Amino acid sequence: MAEPAAAVEDRERLELEALEIGLLTEAIYRHYGFDFRDYSTPSLRRRIWKRIYAEGLSTISGLQERVLHDPQCMERLLLDLSINTTAMFRDPTFYVRFREKVVPMLRTYPFVRVWHAGCSTGEEVYSVAILLQEEGLYDRCRIYATDINEAVLQRAKEGIYPIASMQENTANYIAAGGNGTFSEYYTARYDYAIFRPSLRENVVFAQHNLVTDASFNHFNVVFCRNVLIYFNDTLQNRVHRLFLQSLEMFGILALGKKETVRYTSVADRYEDVDAEERLYRRVR
Ligand SMILES: C[S@@+](CC[C@H](N)C(=O)[O-])C[C@H]1O[C@@H](n2cnc3c(N)ncnc32)[C@H](O)[C@@H]1O
Repeated sequence: MAEPAAAVEDRERLELEALEIGLLTEAIYRHYGFDFRDYSTPSLRRRIWKRIYAEGLSTISGLQERVLHDPQCMERLLLDLSINTTAMFRDPTFYVRFREKVVPMLRTYPFVRVWHAGCSTGEEVYSVAILLQEEGLYDRCRIYATDINEAVLQRAKEGIYPIASMQENTANYIAAGGNGTFSEYYTARYDYAIFRPSLRENVVFAQHNLVTDASFNHFNVVFCRNVLIYFNDTLQNRVHRLFLQSLEMFGILALGKKETVRYTSVADRYEDVDAEERLYRRVR
């Protein structure tokens, strides 16, 4: 049976749009080196259209032209394309299991290197720093926190967050098994909570692109939560190879509920530490 005319039109429109998105991401990659070519299409598509309208444009090719000739437009698009949503002690049970199952392993190491890949504005980094401090491990840890996006890293370095978010953060902290008083970790000033500088004493913040940059150290723990969901299978496999190269033998890969190492090309190199919270240990 022949395809209805409206369906054909729809399909052709989507094919053309996919072609234009492909050209835009290729142009961005060649000109700026940011590689969004394998980002998953629905979220990429939504974000590109948001930027097109915000720029007062009406086509993907119009955006391509502007991005290529105006680096500031590229900066704005970069902010749209990197989804920075985060919270302190986000998904609290993840931290409960981390405390229960990973902390005892870390206690056996004289020195612990941690990598937060895709750390966004730093809430996850401060959360882990607090947890490690409460477990008496912080002083022997060196934490590297990286993101593709310079603007969010700047905020992470400052460690100043809206006071309005502290209610949710405190609830998360308690549910995550925090054994202190959350408000002691920050000073409230006007509308902001300024986190204790000692929490970032052992933290190095740096720009790193998971897609194009190489491994830069060997770690005992790699956190990468809510980042891989935006990548397609090819890119996820590539990033997983990078994590494998970056992990010491018996190192921990901490992904959280939404992501998995199963079904990737490196699945057989890991065993489960906690299947539900997707905590894995490199065993090969
Ligand atoms: C949703 S946030 C996750 C923040 C935190 N890990 C959490 O779970 O709350 C995703 C972060 O991944 C970063 N990101 C996206 N693509 C990246 C890439 N290719 N390399 C490094 N970071 C990337 C984004 O800039 C964003 O800050």
